[in-house]
Amino acid sequence: MKAAKTVFVCQECGSQAPKWMGRCADCGAWNSFVEERVAEAAPATAGASRYTPGGLAATARLYEDVDVASATRLSTGIDEFDRVLGGGIVPGSLVLLGGEPGIGKSTLLLQAAARFAETCGAVLYSSGEESEHQVKLRGERLGVGRPRLYLLSETCLERILEEVARLRPALVIVDSVQTVFSLKLQSAPGSIGQVREAATQLLFAAKGQNVPVFLVGHVTKDGSIAGPKALEHVVDTVLYFEGEHHHAHRIVRAVKNRFGAVSELGVFEMTGSGLHPVPNPSALFLAERPAATPGSAVVCCMEGSRPILVEVQALVSTSAFGNARRTAIGIDVNRVSLLIAVLEKRAGLALVGEDVFVNVAGGITIDEPAADL
Ligand code: TYD
Ligand code: MG
Repeated sequence: MKAAKTVFVCQECGSQAPKWMGRCADCGAWNSFVEERVAEAAPATAGASRYTPGGLAATARLYEDVDVASATRLSTGIDEFDRVLGGGIVPGSLVLLGGEPGIGKSTLLLQAAARFAETCGAVLYSSGEESEHQVKLRGERLGVGRPRLYLLSETCLERILEEVARLRPALVIVDSVQTVFSLKLQSAPGSIGQVREAATQLLFAAKGQNVPVFLVGHVTKDGSIAGPKALEHVVDTVLYFEGEHHHAHRIVRAVKNRFGAVSELGVFEMTGSGLHPVPNPSALFLAERPAATPGSAVVCCMEGSRPILVEVQALVSTSAFGNARRTAIGIDVNRVSLLIAVLEKRAGLALVGEDVFVNVAGGITIDEPAADL
């Protein structure tokens, strides 16, 4: 029997090498090479069918002949979620929803799926992490009723695609892309090859059947969606969950959107019955602000298309040790250092030997330059 051809792939950057290496020559990551099988037959046939001479997809079309009627948006039934998506779900789009484990990705998508199923058609929710029973238990808690929602507890990509072709749903949710594996590759689920293969196959399914697909992606410890950046260029929209576990509210931010504005925010509150949209986020961020306290300032920042008021807190305290600490939460620490330097040089404040702490209340991250003031 002919031995399967394998290749070593860097899990950080996707670079390939014929043999194992301790350090990736391209990105410099250590111990990042994993053996993966070369997919032989599949790309050849896929390529052949896509590049048939005279095939429909191969002909160029005149700009004015391309119809835009299909670009109508479908509502998820949750207005804050529609807002981050740029006004609703675009048919045939592939959306990646990233976030730390336990932040509420599955909860939000289950709620959206249930609402969507009531108005727009059947939804396939494929979970590789939880059984149908577990998903249903959560659904009962969220009070989703009896929507046309198909649950599938499956991790095999080919099986998921079969079900998509059989059920022809109006929306597909894959939770999470890291648990999905393709039979064509031998590497473990969650490796960069598998994650990329799953995303690409689901992209073909989305575009081919004009069905929107949501992918859930867990964020690794270093803060990037695994495999790092490997999916962002494949998908149409990247949404990212922010927020702290001890705060009840969660922020969904659009990092990339081919169909709308980026840095659009959706604000939700986690309650006993799931995530509820917060129509007036400023009120939430300023709710705990004590009046007339030194070191607290309210700034207005533009997040996407809407202004939001947030509270910035600052504290200066004499350092017990020689080197003063500069800590910033929710704002760039380099920016804080720059502001401190400006205050020393221009405003005559002596901050050497003083610890400086800056915090943006509510767990939101701001990069608005106007906040400097
Ligand atoms: P989940 O959606 O499972 O997170 P993820 O899919 O991102 O890993 O969210 C789980 C958390 O949400 C868990 O800590 C419990 C909490 N939660 C509530 O507070 N209320 C609810 O109604 C639900 C369903 C979950
Ligand atoms: Mg989950």
